Amino acid sequence: MGRFDGRIAVVTGAARGIGYAIAQRFAQEGARVAVIDLDESAARKAAAALPGADRPKTSHLGLACDVADAASVEAAVERVVSELGGIHILVNNAGVTRDNLLFKMSEDDWDTVMGVHLRGAFLMTRAAQKHFVNQKYGKILNLSSVSALGNRGQANYSAAKMGIQGFTRTLGLELSPFGINTNAVAPGFIATEMTDATANRLGVPVEDFRKMNAEANPVRRVGAPEDIAAAAAFLCSDEASYITGQTLYVDGGARLD
Ligand code: NAI
Repeated sequence: MGRFDGRIAVVTGAARGIGYAIAQRFAQEGARVAVIDLDESAARKAAAALPGADRPKTSHLGLACDVADAASVEAAVERVVSELGGIHILVNNAGVTRDNLLFKMSEDDWDTVMGVHLRGAFLMTRAAQKHFVNQKYGKILNLSSVSALGNRGQANYSAAKMGIQGFTRTLGLELSPFGINTNAVAPGFIATEMTDATANRLGVPVEDFRKMNAEANPVRRVGAPEDIAAAAAFLCSDEASYITGQTLYVDGGARLD
């Protein structure tokens, strides 16, 4: 018996990184998962590699969708419902960075980050919630970040990630009466292509960048995508049904100093 037997989960930005680890964990615990990402072949490949993909009765789905585009989101959610038979869990994980100090930040840097994180989470949640409300059941998990608390060079990303926390609290108020839990996780430094890209941009070798971040962290290591997946699985499970509107920091205590 898995915690997600019979559940259908949608994870955005799940072709790699944290999203893929969440999809993997949900699938390990019995869910059928729709892997949503920009590139259809990468999404399909990721879905085909999930646990259970080879079982005759289990079918995961990989599909292309730009979460910042309303028509693309509506079509993707309808495809999940018709091909997998419903939707019970939504993880708004898709993300991008366009880091720059404010005086060098372009309008496009700002709009792109707001578009994927905030508009994306809004559009996906609006499309999913009608199914959740009708069936009086749903779990929504949003990805915030420790950067919500402020991070040099990330005025756009930080604003979006704190916006996600306000969005999460408000959905907690609006949707909880319909059997829908909405929460957020705020990761610290997690070793993925996103943080590798930051190292490259700063001109620091990836391993050195991870080492520096590990040394500065109270638990003396960087996070792995699986650390976030474990928290996601708990918050999207029925064990967490009395938790809503919350943001859980999963950061090795990075904010404590
Ligand atoms: P990543 O860059 O490895 O993966 C992000 C995925 O999102 C990619 O597969 C990308 O194609 C997809 N994506 C981007 N724009 C999209 C769009 N418009 N529509 C659909 N998919 C799109 O990033 P990572 O590290 O796995 O991050 C996942 C989430 O966790 C993001 O929301 C990020 O902001 C957040 N986060 C990551 C941290 C880290 O240290 N890696 C720390 C705190 C938060």
